[in-house]
This record gives sequence, C-alpha cells and structure tokens, in this order.
Amino acid sequence: MISAPSGQVTILPDAGAVAAALADAVIAAATAAIAARGTFSIALAGGSSPRAAYELLAGAEYRECVDWSRILCLFGDERCVAPTDDQSNFKMASQALLDHVAIPRENIVRMRGEDEPGQAAAAYADELCKRLGPAPVIDLVLLGLGPDAHTASWFPGVAINDDLLVDAPFVPKFGTNRLTLTPHVVNAARAVLVATTGSEKSAALAAVLGKERDSLRYPAQRLAPASGKLTWLVDSAAASAP
Ligand code: 6PG
Repeated sequence: MISAPSGQVTILPDAGAVAAALADAVIAAATAAIAARGTFSIALAGGSSPRAAYELLAGAEYRECVDWSRILCLFGDERCVAPTDDQSNFKMASQALLDHVAIPRENIVRMRGEDEPGQAAAAYADELCKRLGPAPVIDLVLLGLGPDAHTASWFPGVAINDDLLVDAPFVPKFGTNRLTLTPHVVNAARAVLVATTGSEKSAALAAVLGKERDSLRYPAQRLAPASGKLTWLVDSAAASAP
C-alpha cells in the first residue's frame, strides 16, 4: 500500500484480485452506510474494468451480503446513447449486476443518454438533489482510468463546468457528448474508489500519481475529495511503469 498525493494506492497481483477487492470494498461501504444512515448511495463506473466486480457482487457469495433495498444506484458517467446500446454503461451494469439483485427499480437512477445532452445533464443534477439534497454527498463513487488519464468522462483538453453537478462535455476524440458527474460532486463524496488494471494503464497511472500536476492533461488528477477517502485499487501490471 502506497500513500500518494492523490490518495492511497493498493497494488494487487492481477485483475481478478482487483475485482474481488472492489466487490469487498462496496460491501464494506454499503454495510457501514446502512448501519449509520439507513441507506447507501453508490455511483457506478462504466467501461470494462468494473464488470468483473459487478458480476461478483451479483453472485451468490456477495449478493446476500447487503440489503439491496436500501441502496441508491447512480452512475458516474454515461455515453450519449440509448440504454439498449452496447456502448451504454447502464446496459453493462444492468447485465452484470442490476438485473440480478433485489434493488428497487426506482432506486436505480439512470443518466438518460438518449436525450439531448444538456437537458439530460440538468435532469440528472435535479434528480441527484431530489434524492440527496441540494449539496449531494454520495457515499461511494466508483471510477476507472483511461490510458489517456481520463476518469469518468473528464477527458484531456476537455473543459468540465465544475459549477454544475452534472455536465455534458463534447469530446472531440469521439465526436460526441458524454454525460458525467463533475469533480464538484465527486470530490464531495464520502469515498472515491478508482479501479484500474493492465499494463496499458501504467503510463497514465504513473502520470496521474506523479509530481507533474496538470489536470487538463491528466484529468484524473482532479480527484481530490474534500473530506472523503480516495483509494486506487490497481494490479501490478497497471503499477508497472517506472
Ligand atoms: C466510460 C467510463 C470511463 C472508464 C475508463 C476506463 O464511460 O468509459 O466511465 O471513464 O472508466 O475509460 O475504461 P475501461 O475500464 O474499459 O478500461
């Protein structure tokens, strides 16, 4: 375990160990939050990395470890596609986890990628405030890391309006908008957990945790929870850069 300027880094042998540690961390956070406040709010990450952890959580060993009826499921970001699209983070999370656990459907708050991006972002911000109050504090935000050092949908060179809770930036590399929680709301969370694996992420991870501070170039450097805990769960391949 390494303490970095940007949180605590836990290095695990491989992607399977990261998935298990991520699932364990979700269960521990949910158990503590439900005991303390009766509910647990989590923002799920998209992409491929968290899928194995979601599948573990949906499995017999983990599924019964938590009262899913007390969980509010949010999303950290979403592609501007329909929920049935293979690119949809909601679709991935539903297939891997949400369709297999007893979470009330009204407690799954989907980012509406099929709607006009600006309207979808504003609507999600309204829903966040409706569920969590005017200064929403999410219990746990799960994130991944891209090989270009992006996280959520904060991409290099792309401005995110941190006066908003949810933004809809146009991302030139994809030629489309994305929907994303902003650093404002992520850094207000009680805990932020970034899981990343694979040697293709090693340069990005080293840059993000390194001494050069440039959050436009390395957007994941915007992760700086005000009082919450930031943890990086990485495998040895992702931690392999000098
Ligand atoms: C997305 C994610 C994104 C993801 C990283 C890592 O919508 O793609 O939110 O931020 O976490 O791109 O993706 P992988 O886990 O697929 O490497």
